[in-house]
Amino acid sequence: MKPPPSGAEAFKYGPGPGTRDEVRGDLAERRIAAQRKELSKRSGKEWEPRSVLASGIMMFEIKKICCIGAGYVGGPTCSVIAQMCPEIRVTVVDVNESRINAWNSPMLPIYEPGLKEVVESCRGKNLFFSTNIDDAIKEADLVFISVNTPTKTYGMGKGRAADLKYIEACARRIVQNSHGYKIVTEKSTVPVRAAESIRQIFDANTKPNLNLQVLSNPEFLAEGTAIKDLKNPDRVLIGGDETPEGQIAVQALCAVYEHWVPKEKILTTNTWSSELSKLAANAFLAQRISSINSISALCEATGADVEEVATAIGMDQRIGNKFLKASVGFGGSCFQKDVLNLVYLCEALNLPEVAHYWQQVIDINDYQRRRFASRIIDSLFNTVTDKKIAILGFAFKKDTGDTRESSSIYISKYLMDEGAHLHIYDPKVPREQIVVDLSHPGVSEDDQVSRLVTISKDPYEACDGAHAVVICTEWDMFKELDYEHIHKKMLKPAFIFDGRRVLDGLHNELQTIGFQIETIGKKVSSKRIPYAPSSDIPKFSLQDPPNKKPKV
Ligand code: UDX
Ligand code: UDX
Repeated sequence: MKPPPSGAEAFKYGPGPGTRDEVRGDLAERRIAAQRKELSKRSGKEWEPRSVLASGIMMFEIKKICCIGAGYVGGPTCSVIAQMCPEIRVTVVDVNESRINAWNSPMLPIYEPGLKEVVESCRGKNLFFSTNIDDAIKEADLVFISVNTPTKTYGMGKGRAADLKYIEACARRIVQNSHGYKIVTEKSTVPVRAAESIRQIFDANTKPNLNLQVLSNPEFLAEGTAIKDLKNPDRVLIGGDETPEGQIAVQALCAVYEHWVPKEKILTTNTWSSELSKLAANAFLAQRISSINSISALCEATGADVEEVATAIGMDQRIGNKFLKASVGFGGSCFQKDVLNLVYLCEALNLPEVAHYWQQVIDINDYQRRRFASRIIDSLFNTVTDKKIAILGFAFKKDTGDTRESSSIYISKYLMDEGAHLHIYDPKVPREQIVVDLSHPGVSEDDQVSRLVTISKDPYEACDGAHAVVICTEWDMFKELDYEHIHKKMLKPAFIFDGRRVLDGLHNELQTIGFQIETIGKKVSSKRIPYAPSSDIPKFSLQDPPNKKPKV
């Protein structure tokens, strides 16, 4: 009989090619012994696996999960895990007490279709929200890190690199509060090799009986469809070390997802591939939007319709029809941040051509926003000073109350800079959030917001007496407004600027009512080639470091 493979080989190659049951049994036992010896040696303690797979491969069973960061990623992800795995106790912790209180109340801190039902089905049973971070770490078999990784606003890499200070703080807290074997999983989108930094912190602070395994398990959910995406993901990606302990950790996390995700959709890779895949996926998605938005500029200049072009190219199965919606520019917490991160990574690795290529995705997005703002100003007889403009939609997309990097912020800034009076309505974004976003030091100065911005509680109030209506978010309700009533109450000529193409089916009707319609990627009312000197509008980015202190 062949000698049993070493622990590492056993994990790499799975069960050996034994021909008889007793040979298999013997081999399995010897493998377990080899693995146990190897693990005991590395962790400095007697290794006690919770269970053993039929193939003889040791398995660590996750019974308690702690998730640090109760945000848009951590909250919904862990709620779905709790619902799908009733025997696992899931505790979501956060430094922000009011956020945790909201998770424990009927008014959840984030709006996401279907989330409330999931939370209510398991909160208090196997799903808990708490500020007691240390205890939750101590008890957990697996810790997800889901804290935010904002773009750095200072020092090296400012405006582009991700700030890992929260991840680092989590790593230090985890190592302080851990004993035995524990799996630590990056959920937050992080720069490639962040797992390495976490590991270094663990190694530098190691103690007897401690074995912390670091995995990368990026989340691909999109806001507004988070529950659907989590329950039926295209794939689950798990990256880990190729060592025996690393593979035990990978298998343990796979077993959690296997409660509801088909095995063939669970992809395991090495840690770096997993980290880079997340950045690359977001960069590819953002690139598609910038590509179609660049074509929208061409459509407006030529008389083509970008929707028709998108349909025509999307029917080519190699291209596909998703993510081809021209818009006023992509927003959200991820796309800009992750593409900038990729650019920074390429520069750091001395790949300037690759960095330049991806930077263009951001530049076109920026151009699209400035182009739209400039079209509004140009159409309104080249001045919006003291004009009332209704902004419909402030969230970065429909079905979420999230405003991070929303194009509405950028359009509002450009119009405020010209002295326009903005009346803003969004069905899900709280008033305070709009004020905070527009008061950001990079967006407005002094009393600009109090002088120029009114938050309306319904769309009709926002449009009453306005010169123009600007649609920035594709909320379905904007298709069903009483535009005849709105037109009556507006100044004439009454303009609609549709930054999301939500009113596509209504153009004839709206023109009959008397509206002048300007939309992305198509000439509707204006037959001349629009004069769009977007270069006159100064570039600005929320990712840039503010040049003055934030106002509180
Ligand atoms: C964030 C990032 O935006 C995303 O790129 C990444 O993939 C995951 O983290 P999100 O959940 O949307 O996603 O962020 P956010 O809603 O800001 O939630 C992060 C939470 O972490 C906040 O509630 C914050 O209070 C908490 N946090 C942050 C901690 O609990 N501890 C810290 O040290 C830092
Ligand atoms: C994105 C990724 O889709 C998700 O996989 C990742 O985990 C996080 O980042 P999210 O930002 O929540 O998700 O929303 P997404 O639906 O991707 O939209 C991002 C932005 O692009 C929004 O502003 C949206 O309006 C815009 N968009 C999207 C377009 O302008 N056109 C499109 O065709 C699609």
